[in-house]
Amino acid sequence: MKYRKFLKKIDGDNIGYESATPEIVANFIAKDISERLGSYASINIIDCCCGIGSDALALSKVCNFVLAVDKNKERLKIAEKNAKISRCKNIKFICADIFDLNLKNLKEEYKLNVAFADPQRRLTENGKFKRTSNLAETSPNTINLINFLRTEIPDMCILASSNAEVNLDLPCEKAYIGWEGRKGKRETLLVLYFGNLKRCGVSAVVLPACAQICGTKSETENKENFSDKPLKYLYEIKDCVVKAGLQNELTKLTECKIWTEKFLTSEKIAESNFFENRFKLLAVCAHENLIENLKKFNAGKIVIRGKIMPEEYTKMKNEVEGILAKFKGKEKIHIFLDDKSDKILIGKCIDF
Ligand SMILES: C[S@@+](CC[C@H](N)C(=O)[O-])C[C@H]1O[C@@H](n2cnc3c(N)ncnc32)[C@H](O)[C@@H]1O
Repeated sequence: MKYRKFLKKIDGDNIGYESATPEIVANFIAKDISERLGSYASINIIDCCCGIGSDALALSKVCNFVLAVDKNKERLKIAEKNAKISRCKNIKFICADIFDLNLKNLKEEYKLNVAFADPQRRLTENGKFKRTSNLAETSPNTINLINFLRTEIPDMCILASSNAEVNLDLPCEKAYIGWEGRKGKRETLLVLYFGNLKRCGVSAVVLPACAQICGTKSETENKENFSDKPLKYLYEIKDCVVKAGLQNELTKLTECKIWTEKFLTSEKIAESNFFENRFKLLAVCAHENLIENLKKFNAGKIVIRGKIMPEEYTKMKNEVEGILAKFKGKEKIHIFLDDKSDKILIGKCIDF
């Protein structure tokens, strides 16, 4: 029930909570939809699978009218209760399978001009929970839903897993939204914007800052933006930027160079909402000199970064920290396994 922290005003069952969009994300997407369609006189939106209503409630604050549909009677009841608690009077609830509805008639009746959907990605299979990133496996099936909606309501906003492969015959913007979830876990969600909601090819957003980068995923490498060696500072790039492939755009904003897919580097210290962590590089050393260097920087604990299997990670961490324990070091030091060379980088996190 830890989701209560994120959905303060929302009532719901456990599965409803797990599937609900966190309030910070729902509010951002709703506001973003209204801003993208700022020229529309009014927005009348259909939420095709509203669950316990987190998105529908957020949409009701910025839209003229929300038609909220869900095939699960219990969840829909909870969504209605939540709307009452939040005094949202502009939502009409319908319990139905979205594919059984006559969209043309509903569009006319309620003047619907935008469609929203957050299909279920957490599924139960043989009594076990399974997460899917496959658009054809979600409930409702995301591909079928897009095809069902596209002719009647081409302005669509569809939520998907950030790992989803999107190969559609319809142009859309892929917006990757990143935020800090439960227990400080980094979360990323993919939002697909169609029709007049589309602003660019791909974008990345970090919450709560609402900082955005828009661009096109660069297929060709611009050599000038790369550094073949790490410079004085290293910056771990937020997952939403990595997934969007917008590292090049980030170098322009920060005057840094790309060191690896997940790290930028610079001589002068830089700051950005799109950095997960910033590190000062302390030393570059050979594997055999690691302990000697760690002692020099008073290391007690280490965090290993780079391509390493979990069992290897634990083994290396235990071995190194076991030796360091004898020297009573106090600092937490980050070590980076550099795939481009056989050296190890030693760094200290600047922000914590
Ligand atoms: C991820 S949940 C939606 C969560 C919601 N956005 C919220 O924040 O509370 C997906 C919902 O889709 C509903 N659903 C699945 N297939 C459906 C269909 N064919 N028609 C209507 N609703 C459907 C499920 O009952 C579930 O409540």
